[in-house]
Amino acid sequence: MLTLDDVCVRADGQQILGPVSIALQPRTLTAVVGPNGAGKSTLVKAMSGEIHPATGRVRLDGDDVATLAPAILATRRAVLPQASAIAFPFTVFEIVQLGLRQRGGLDASARRRIVAEALAIVDLARFGDRLYPSLSGGEQQRTQLARVLCQIGAPVETGRAKLLILDEPTASLDVRHQVDVLAVARRFADAGGAVVAVLHDLNLAAGFADRVLLMQSGRIVADEAPEPLLAGGQLADVFGIRMVVLRPAGWLRSAVLPDFPSLALSG
Ligand SMILES: Nc1ncnc2c1ncn2[C@@H]1O[C@H](COP(=O)(O)OP(=O)(O)OP(=O)(O)O)[C@@H](O)[C@H]1O
Ligand SMILES: [Mg+2]
Repeated sequence: MLTLDDVCVRADGQQILGPVSIALQPRTLTAVVGPNGAGKSTLVKAMSGEIHPATGRVRLDGDDVATLAPAILATRRAVLPQASAIAFPFTVFEIVQLGLRQRGGLDASARRRIVAEALAIVDLARFGDRLYPSLSGGEQQRTQLARVLCQIGAPVETGRAKLLILDEPTASLDVRHQVDVLAVARRFADAGGAVVAVLHDLNLAAGFADRVLLMQSGRIVADEAPEPLLAGGQLADVFGIRMVVLRPAGWLRSAVLPDFPSLALSG
């Protein structure tokens, strides 16, 4: 559904991404992992059409995202950015409702119902009247996710799969809400949509993703299912830290930890 052909992004005269050529399919959750500065946010901004590549093309169901009208693009893909600074004293309800701007044909009660459903999904059911700046960091992040869920709506509409792009959706969240957010993303993919999630938690990537893009210095250096990626040892090379891969009895997927004893961090 989303294809990148030889995409390169430049900033300040430097190439910060690419060349990248990949295709994303519906029904898949793709995790993007890699060190700080590897180009993950740049990649997802190029995917979403927020930044335009210096060379190459990004196509969403065949349409160049650079030429799609923003209002059309907003109905086919939604983006949770890495940081969303909102200083104005909007209520949570008002922020989440912003996600419905491009969805026509909704009366006030339908809008209230959709916003309430999205707030319930992110475990903020009673937060609609709260002022956004008064929320905790994690609550603010979950409010932004609710806004994005309102924008994207159903994973498939009129036969077309939609794309949900999440840049570090779990960065401020406690462990339960991290898992909840990945479960929301997983359900979106299982119901026919496509999800791309930038994650620093390798275990969330290993536990929930179908496919992991490992980035380093503006390039995708591995594009694999989680199990072979963890088994291959490339993560340790790219992150520059020894790691151990664990598979507790009864687990279907492996997990990975820094090798604390060899790092002399265990005390
Ligand atoms: N507008 C810009 N001008 C100059 N350099 C930029 C610009 N935007 C991004 N970069 C650089 O490009 C590189 C990739 O940035 P990007 O934000 O994509 O990294 P990232 O993988 O998302 O990192 P993080 O894990 O810290 O979020 C970084 O080194 C960054 O400093
Ligand atoms: Mg980033």
